[in-house]
Amino acid sequence: MTPCYILGIESSCDETAAAVVRADAPCGERVVSEVVLSQLEDHRPYGGVVPEIAARAHLSALQALVAEAMQRAGVGYGDLSAVAATGGPGLIGGVIVGVMAAKAIAMVHDKPFLAVNHLEGHALTPRLSHDVPFPYLLLLVSGGHCQLLVVEGVGQFRRLGTTIDDAAGEAFDKVAKMIGLGYPGGPAVQAAAVGGDPRRFDLPRPLKGRPGFDFSFSGLKAAVRRSIEQMPPGPLSAQDKSDLAASFQAALVDSTLDRVRRAVRHFRANWPQGTALVVAGGVAANAPLRAELTTLAAREGLDFVAPPLKWCTDNAAMIAWAAAERLALGQSDPLDFKPRPRWPL
Ligand code: KG4
Ligand code: ZN
Repeated sequence: MTPCYILGIESSCDETAAAVVRADAPCGERVVSEVVLSQLEDHRPYGGVVPEIAARAHLSALQALVAEAMQRAGVGYGDLSAVAATGGPGLIGGVIVGVMAAKAIAMVHDKPFLAVNHLEGHALTPRLSHDVPFPYLLLLVSGGHCQLLVVEGVGQFRRLGTTIDDAAGEAFDKVAKMIGLGYPGGPAVQAAAVGGDPRRFDLPRPLKGRPGFDFSFSGLKAAVRRSIEQMPPGPLSAQDKSDLAASFQAALVDSTLDRVRRAVRHFRANWPQGTALVVAGGVAANAPLRAELTTLAAREGLDFVAPPLKWCTDNAAMIAWAAAERLALGQSDPLDFKPRPRWPL
């Protein structure tokens, strides 16, 4: 059988990435090569991602990155079965760069082109790393998104809930900035919270105990700001920072778990054939969140699946894999596909 190689490109935020996956390989052996170039240092002085800087950085890095991914895979363009790029949602300048590159390669080598929804990429990643059957319950928590979805199949999503204000990663990033922990905030808050007292600051658990499956984090963020304002004037001590980080992280994990617990019960009642709770997106790297989700899934009789950390944050393997799943169903996209800044699942 001819191997089915797919080239994927990701450029919707602050990572430029290219990967080659072999769709017909068993899971664990599918990612043949992957290269990621983080723009973290370009954006750090601004305390967040600057779209114009991101777009220019993607443009200057992508061509060499794609060539490197192909070379490492030992695959020629003629051997590819398809070429895919993130088609949105995301920062539009970067998305245009990735889509144009993928279209050009597809056109020159006469291969199918696929524009992958970035969220679908995150949502299908668990099937890249594990044999997870549909349907599964997915907590998608990243810098831009916070959703609970039932993934019923490729392109088939039932959204149970979403954030009504900030995404979870956005809350981590903003609180880190307030405490003076730098960017990106998630890993910095998690590190500072070690050795901190999670009970020192009495912070709210937004929407806890309320019906539905939505999230809210802006009230929690505002409460952290008030706690800082009420402290004696002068710089925060290292212990203050640790206690604030620990208290915030505990509140965020607690209110997230409340929403997930409700969703798990709804999922089990309405999708009785479902067997797994899955987490994806950058915040899935958070150790206390993962630990709590593991316990919850075990208690509720579901398998817990978390992709390896490198495939939780933005990467191109997830884009190539989502394209592989769509290609297997006979899908591809026209070369006049227009990049989409917004593209809900
Ligand atoms: O999925 P991702 O790489 O990009 C988006 O699609 O948004 O997620 C990035 C987000 C950032 O907000 C970052 O602070 C957060 O994931 N993050 C974490 C951790 N590692 C990354 N949040 C909490 N704990 C972590 N260990
Ligand atoms: Zn993402």
